[in-house]
Amino acid sequence: MVQKSLNILFTSAGRRVALIRHFKKTLSSLNIDGHLLGVDVSADAPALHELDDARLICRIDDPRYIESLIELCISEKVDMLFPLIDTDLMKLSLARPEFARVGTNAVVCDPELIEATANKYKTYDLFKRFGIDTPTVFELTERCEDSYRYPLFMKPLDGSASKSIFKINSRKELFFFREYVERPILQEYISGREFTLDMLFDFDGAVRCIVPRRRIEVRAGEVSKSVIDLDPAVMDAGWRLGEKLRGARGVVNVQCIRTAEGRVSFIEINPRFGGGTPLSLYAGADFPRWLLQMALGDDPGDIRSAFTPGVYMLRFDDAVFLPDLPALKKVQS
Ligand SMILES: Nc1ncnc2c1ncn2[C@@H]1O[C@H](COP(=O)(O)OP(=O)(O)O)[C@@H](O)[C@H]1O
Ligand SMILES: [Mg+2]
Repeated sequence: MVQKSLNILFTSAGRRVALIRHFKKTLSSLNIDGHLLGVDVSADAPALHELDDARLICRIDDPRYIESLIELCISEKVDMLFPLIDTDLMKLSLARPEFARVGTNAVVCDPELIEATANKYKTYDLFKRFGIDTPTVFELTERCEDSYRYPLFMKPLDGSASKSIFKINSRKELFFFREYVERPILQEYISGREFTLDMLFDFDGAVRCIVPRRRIEVRAGEVSKSVIDLDPAVMDAGWRLGEKLRGARGVVNVQCIRTAEGRVSFIEINPRFGGGTPLSLYAGADFPRWLLQMALGDDPGDIRSAFTPGVYMLRFDDAVFLPDLPALKKVQS
């Protein structure tokens, strides 16, 4: 039998221990002889210590960031690269052809999609263009309109991790928070159950599987309790959106709110593995396996329903214990 081999690099490995452990299991169950590598700016990123090889790298905003990654991809013969936070998505996406030239498939969406998801005004436009329900956005004029119906919702248009988000109950609050929130966007407030959809896109940009995770509890901007809930209205809206998105690749997570009346209103797209994705993996939606299979030219087939509804994820704190912090090599360009 021909020995299959795939080396995989994760950028900003951070705290994604569960995801990396899953990749490790997947490599061995597919009988792939591969290495898992990761980079981060600091040796105290827990996930670095789950990898076969970890390196330190300059900050993403350093002009040498991409060059350094390319060097690493060459020296370590990296076949696939997965980003794990939002910050380097655009740089990686623009550099996809450079990565391809050195034999690395950077599993990142196209720049146009990343641009639209990095700014909540542009995300709103994208949903509108596709005829997908999204909260109405109100222009923040100098004098706040009397006609606004409260409550409203305010957040930074380039925010993340639920930082600086506010329900606005009155004109007085609106005046206060429009000064307080940096680069604010003002939206209609949607009350309901919140879902994150993990969507898998193949390398031709076709959506292949959508897993609906209903949020039960959030801690520090990341889901801590959730359940796979095949709500028909959410699934229907999710597939309509998935089939319209262009330039998507790999796992993209999308958030929506489902009201008691059955409205499904989309608020956000994060074009990367979500923090809560381990629930989908545990429920059977084996994104790492399918992506690796696709990379090896072996299509996983019909995977639309390849997961079990009703599965819960109840997170707790865990830790990596180390006798000492190892001195990691720095990637130099
Ligand atoms: N229009 C809205 N109405 C009600 N709640 C909202 C609205 N927009 C966002 N939220 C809440 O704020 C949270 C963060 O908003 P989101 O757009 O996902 O920004 P980010 O995750 O980038 O901080 C959401 O998870 C949701 O709970
Ligand atoms: Mg969000």
